[in-house]
Amino acid sequence: MRVVLLGPPGSGKGTQAEKLGNRLNLFHISTGDIIREAVNKRTSVGEQIKDFLNRGELVPDSVVLKLLMGIIKKNEEFILDGFPRNLQQAKQLDAVLGEENKELDLVINLKIDEGAILHRLNGRLTCSQCGKVYHIDNLPSGKRCELCGASLYQRKDDNIDIIKRRINVYKESIFPLIEYYRKKGILHYIQGEMSPEKVFRGIMTLIEKRKNEVMEETWLRKN
Ligand code: AP5
Ligand code: MG
Repeated sequence: MRVVLLGPPGSGKGTQAEKLGNRLNLFHISTGDIIREAVNKRTSVGEQIKDFLNRGELVPDSVVLKLLMGIIKKNEEFILDGFPRNLQQAKQLDAVLGEENKELDLVINLKIDEGAILHRLNGRLTCSQCGKVYHIDNLPSGKRCELCGASLYQRKDDNIDIIKRRINVYKESIFPLIEYYRKKGILHYIQGEMSPEKVFRGIMTLIEKRKNEVMEETWLRKN
């Protein structure tokens, strides 16, 4: 399966992508994590893009594509979290997949209101080692990561002004992208304000259905 998770900041893309990656043994590709790693390691690319990240604005397409395309080509199947974010990125993704006769199976858009976004991102804590995401309402005992034991930190871009900027950036670029995937017939919506378990079940139902369709199409082509 090649799945894209869309949705505004805090809609649960990272939370769900991690669960799906584990359940389906799919590679989880988070552009936000890749970008943050480059910035934290102070690579030359990281130095070029840190101001975009800190302002809550999109990093230029050329840089994101350079960071990402090798990873996409290397993985037969994957879950994309945070990419594409605009029409140009979506077209580039299709072009790269098309070179190897591949295509996306599903695009899932997680819906959430602005009030819930602010609550979630104000209280989000992230593991400093493995990147697992938590919320202050629901921290593991000892307030350290339950997977690797490392300390938790608050993302720099999770302050109220930057969160608002990120929401606006999302609104400015999302509509052409939604329209593009709607026309392809692969766009689905899931209510992101349900519990993480319910959201996960909703996504799994869509994936199982799509898997069955792919099996059927393959069988018909062979017979
Ligand atoms: P990125 O890191 O992708 O940030 P984002 O899109 O703003 O999304 P978030 O990671 O904030 O939220 P999420 O949807 O993953 O929610 P999460 O699961 O953590 O990108 C950061 C920056 O990188 C961008 O601003 C841009 O600068 C740059 N960038 C990235 N991709 C780019 C691209 N393609 N092009 C250009 N620039 C790019 O959940 C949030 C909180 O809610 C957590 O506390 C979690 O525990 C909680 N939660 C999750 N689900 C639920 C639920 N169902 N119920 C209750 N709480 C929940
Ligand atoms: Mg995320």
